[in-house]
Amino acid sequence: MNHPVQILDWPCSIKLAMMQLPVKKKHPRRQEPGPPASLEFCVHFPEVVLCLVEKRMGASRKAFLTTLARQRGFCVEDANSERVTHVVSEGNSGDEVVEWLKKKGRHYIDAVADCPALLNISWFTESMSAERPVPIEPRHYLLVTAHAEELEAKCQVAPYACQRRTLLLHSNQALVNKGTECHPGFHHFYLTLLLCLEKQPDTHKKSRRSMEDALQTMAEEAHFNGSEARSLAFSRAASVLKSLPWTVKRVQELHSLPCIGEHSRRIVQEVLEDGASAEVERVQHSERYQAMKLFTKIFGVGVKTASRWYQEGLRTLADLQVHHAKLSKEQQVGLLHYDDLNTPVERSEAEAIGQVVREAVEQCLPGASVTLTGGFRRGKPTGHDVDFLVTHPTEGQEVGLLSKVISWLDKQGCLLYYSSHRNTFLDLEDLELWSSSSSASMMDRFERCFSIFCLGCLPGALQRGAGAQKPSTATWSPGASRSWKAVRVDLVVSPYSQFPFALLGWTGSRNFERDLRRFSKHEKKMALNSHTLYHVEQKIFLTAASEEEIFQLLGLEYIPPEERNA
Ligand code: CTP
Ligand code: MN
Ligand code: MN
Repeated sequence: MNHPVQILDWPCSIKLAMMQLPVKKKHPRRQEPGPPASLEFCVHFPEVVLCLVEKRMGASRKAFLTTLARQRGFCVEDANSERVTHVVSEGNSGDEVVEWLKKKGRHYIDAVADCPALLNISWFTESMSAERPVPIEPRHYLLVTAHAEELEAKCQVAPYACQRRTLLLHSNQALVNKGTECHPGFHHFYLTLLLCLEKQPDTHKKSRRSMEDALQTMAEEAHFNGSEARSLAFSRAASVLKSLPWTVKRVQELHSLPCIGEHSRRIVQEVLEDGASAEVERVQHSERYQAMKLFTKIFGVGVKTASRWYQEGLRTLADLQVHHAKLSKEQQVGLLHYDDLNTPVERSEAEAIGQVVREAVEQCLPGASVTLTGGFRRGKPTGHDVDFLVTHPTEGQEVGLLSKVISWLDKQGCLLYYSSHRNTFLDLEDLELWSSSSSASMMDRFERCFSIFCLGCLPGALQRGAGAQKPSTATWSPGASRSWKAVRVDLVVSPYSQFPFALLGWTGSRNFERDLRRFSKHEKKMALNSHTLYHVEQKIFLTAASEEEIFQLLGLEYIPPEERNA
């Protein structure tokens, strides 16, 4: 065998274990497979059924590895078993394994569902070492020539995010480890090492990154530089990856997908091959990216402000404290609550705030409804804020509601900060002009309030800590012990007739919204915003009583909120 490392230098225990490992001989004596797992060993992982490819592995080594796997609670069966989920091969190409499986009676492999998954021995080695099936990563897969074409043919990916179903959990979010050598001899050696040392080496855990994450970083960097078109291109590529029903294993599978440009493709390839992209790593470690990220995470700070601060030589939050006078009221509050506002809001917290908002709305206008929108409506377990949409079934009743709700909440001590915007009312003629203009799709004109709630200062039973009091900025400093948390809350009020449009517009995701509007404009000659749908050629407003009806008017298949996570 051709070991990459001199064995002589290793401790005796390792050498001993290696000698005990059978290696394939030229003409191995055929061995009967061991007894069925159920007779001798407990099955700890019933959802995983292994099959070891004897070709090139050899019968005796296969028998040895079979026993090893069974001792560790894995189920191992023959190739023709319908139950097999993981096929493990050593030294064969993917195409060779497919041929071998056919010979053994297994003719169908579902490339989309990855069933059974065709894996190289590295997955087995790592699983044996971890004593559990480790998650499959791209580098574990054997590449099958026919699969890339089959995947593309089977899964036609639509160009607009609003035509695709994108779940929160998708097939391409697994972190990709930095790859290890795939030399077959090396794996034999490696397995020995792992079994002796029991622990996986740390080098294995470095630079974990998903393809989507890498593309999002590039999108963010472009956004920080004011290159919106570039940012959008990366963001769209990431969105397409999220919608794929299969796990991308090699870059050729992206060949005919929409929205994946040359640069995105290069980044994905790097991540697939090396576990990370050098370019993305460079961006992430750059001084400018880090400062921009830090500053834009402050409530009330956008790219322009952050960029100016960077140019002025500011780098840290401490630098900003020194220049405190330069900050707006909003930014000062943002800085004060920096840690809280950058701690994800849990669903339970969103629900607690929802209860207070409902109570406030009920007090101010009985019969009005409060709907949770944004990421939480799409099923996200956490969010950067909590979004609510308020309406009343009698059109017109909602006018002036928001200011009453805010003053009720403020009196109860629930608000640390708020900034409200009046409904900039437009009559129909103005609305027509506005709807057909290009800026219409970017904004809406509802009565709305961007606020910071004090969770823990909520009234009555909703209090987190007994007797919590609204903190005063004069007496409280970050880091002091306390029983409350600052949480961003967006409140929007919509007239009843516009409610379905507002609900669709405020549920997101941003990628989904952007493409809904782009699709309406380019494919249907319609202008969609959070108020209405306007037919530009017929010059008429289209009404809808539900989100379903809006999709119908646009000629789109209805996509429920949980599938709008583009
Ligand atoms: N939105 C908007 N106008 C704004 C802010 C937000 O129309 N000025 C819409 C966005 O289009 C988005 C939705 O409101 O669809 C929610 O926005 P946001 O809270 O920023 O994002 P979420 O998807 O809720 O993400 P998170 O869970 O991180 O809050
Ligand atoms: Mn939100
Ligand atoms: Mn929001």
